Amino acid sequence: KPYIVIMAGGIGSRFWPYSRTAKPKQFLDILGTGRTLLQMTYDRFREIASPDLFYVVTNQEYFDLVKEQLPELSDQQILTEPLRKNTATCVAYASFKISQQNPEATLVVTPADHLILQESKFIQTLQTAIQAAQTPGRLITIGIKPNRPETGYGYIQYLESDNHHPSLKVKTFTEKPNLKLAKTFIESGDFVWNSGMFVWKVSSILEAYHQHMPDVADVFEDGKAHYGKNTEGDFINRAYTQVKNISIDYGIMEKSNEVYVILGDFGWSDLGSWSSLHELREKDEFNNVIEANAMVYETQNSFIKMDSDKLVVVQGLDNYLVNESENVLLICKLDSEKKFRDFVANAKKKG
Ligand code: GDD
Ligand code: MG
Repeated sequence: KPYIVIMAGGIGSRFWPYSRTAKPKQFLDILGTGRTLLQMTYDRFREIASPDLFYVVTNQEYFDLVKEQLPELSDQQILTEPLRKNTATCVAYASFKISQQNPEATLVVTPADHLILQESKFIQTLQTAIQAAQTPGRLITIGIKPNRPETGYGYIQYLESDNHHPSLKVKTFTEKPNLKLAKTFIESGDFVWNSGMFVWKVSSILEAYHQHMPDVADVFEDGKAHYGKNTEGDFINRAYTQVKNISIDYGIMEKSNEVYVILGDFGWSDLGSWSSLHELREKDEFNNVIEANAMVYETQNSFIKMDSDKLVVVQGLDNYLVNESENVLLICKLDSEKKFRDFVANAKKKG
């Protein structure tokens, strides 16, 4: 029975202004299903794990949101972080803590903000990955067939298996390549995307931390006596000041020789941008997604989403996003992903 570790501390800046630091996209019902992305993630993994085997790792700031959205979890199952130190730190915290309770545990580590369309196929792939992770030392990731030179993903090159084994040895792992490199990878046809979901024995990942991130391993190893005690919070507050901000993809996956990939095909999207959400949502006859009290003329391929019930009148838009959330109204090209970092940073300066 695997433990499920949900990483839910990101800030989702590419969905600004709808997704805010105060309430990032994993806590939003971004698909309009009545469940938030975090809740959908929980539901998906409930198929293979009982509620007591879940851990959600998140920023202190979001403790109440997690509690409210996943009332099935006890406070001890929500691991809170005082600072944003990225996924290598988040996974280290959960792994060292779980190893204290159960050194034989298998962990499934997952983002909180992805969409999976074919859940039963996904569960099958996951079972295969859990099986493959039982070989000591191995780090299993789930790979997705790519369809564009996306630069926001990790790229995995693997060795073909000669014995039809589903887990394929990874030759290279390249996190977030530049566009030129991403294009080369796609053209070569040998690469898959890293889905960001990982499966391993807790002993395998601790070994990897000791080998590739010994500073982080030392910090969390030293804290073992505190896990589960009332001094855990103080220890974590100190530990987080001592580690650097780095993702597990750079910190471990790019470096380890023990990485294996299982190929998955289950309708995966990381809902990384407004345009990827637009692709998935139901559209009107002019390919618009409209979630607003709107009068729409000669408009196509656009996304109009308003928080308030203010009447919006638009004319002549093609490939535009109109989003009002709280005190911000954003109007921009729907596919202007690359600009979002600037929008958010400069909006902060304006206050
Ligand atoms: N607890 C916690 N703390 N969670 C975090 C933190 C943190 O400091 N930073 C990010 N997360 C959470 C996010 O909320 C998300 O659920 C997950 O960890 C992954 O982080 P992202 O920031 O979304 O990573 P990414 O999308 O840039 O890249 C990862 O996912 C891609 C696929 O979507 C990588 O694993 C890539 O290799 C992969 O292709
Ligand atoms: Mg992501």
